[in-house]
Amino acid sequence: MGNAGGNFWWSVELESGGKAAEETLATIADLSGSIGAELFQEEGMTVLRAAYFSSHDISHWIAVLNELLADFPEARVRSHTKIENRDWHTKHLEAFPPLSVGVNFVVMAPWHKGKEPKGKLALYIYPSSAFGTGYHESTQIALSLIERFVKAGDEVVDVGTGSGVLFIAALKLGAAKTAARDVDPTAIAECRRNMELNGLASKACDLRIGDLVEGVETRFDVLTANILLEPNLKLLNDIGRVLKREGVAIFSGMTVSERTRFLSALSEADLSLVAELTTNDWWGCAAKFA
Ligand SMILES: C[S@@+](CC[C@H](N)C(=O)[O-])C[C@H]1O[C@@H](n2cnc3c(N)ncnc32)[C@H](O)[C@@H]1O
Repeated sequence: MGNAGGNFWWSVELESGGKAAEETLATIADLSGSIGAELFQEEGMTVLRAAYFSSHDISHWIAVLNELLADFPEARVRSHTKIENRDWHTKHLEAFPPLSVGVNFVVMAPWHKGKEPKGKLALYIYPSSAFGTGYHESTQIALSLIERFVKAGDEVVDVGTGSGVLFIAALKLGAAKTAARDVDPTAIAECRRNMELNGLASKACDLRIGDLVEGVETRFDVLTANILLEPNLKLLNDIGRVLKREGVAIFSGMTVSERTRFLSALSEADLSLVAELTTNDWWGCAAKFA
């Protein structure tokens, strides 16, 4: 069993000698649910030291990492250890400095509250095990499209909500009503925690466990989905049921190489592209009914 009290942390070191080692390892840290990570060079290798909550046993985190590493054969776990030193933890918390996203947003860990840059709309997100700290490129693409398309009074549905960062952003922009779904039950608790952190009432979002738009019964002005290509493609089958005729659908979580395939699926679903954004290898777009 792990330690739910959190008075110790797991530290895992991964190494890679690959071409895009830093990016690969940072992506693995983010996707695996690390709460903080640092990168350094050692004997010609790039090393990532990542911290994980002790609420899960180390075997859980190693299994999560090994699953992700299957896609990155150039990287491997080289060691892991238990850390009881709170100072070390504090140091890791600093691995999440406030991050400006788009024109208006700043994503901030709760320990940076009070240090909001002037004129920015703060999204307080606790970096945790549910994916979506706000620091991932695909989340930043989705947030940039949200600030462009969500208007005060809109009703917004968020598919694959993770930390809840996207619907929280929509609420901060004045969305009148939101709904969110995630297949991962831990994401729901995480969303509630983040809503509270942002001073949002729990009734501001119809938040439930569900596959894609399962249990979504009404149509929305904006749909957001930062999931991978396959679930995004599957979601297109339901788009007419959950998106208003004049609504906007925002899709992220895909790579540049998947763009052509997704664009052709969009047109088959009677949607046309209205905006697209690329950050490094990540790609996302906004679409409306043709
Ligand atoms: C890439 S994360 C995005 C999290 C957050 N929305 C963000 O933008 O940072 C994808 C999330 O989608 C969830 N997910 C994956 N497949 C799903 C599905 N079929 N239905 C609902 N949620 C799904 C995962 O559990 C995960 O929390």
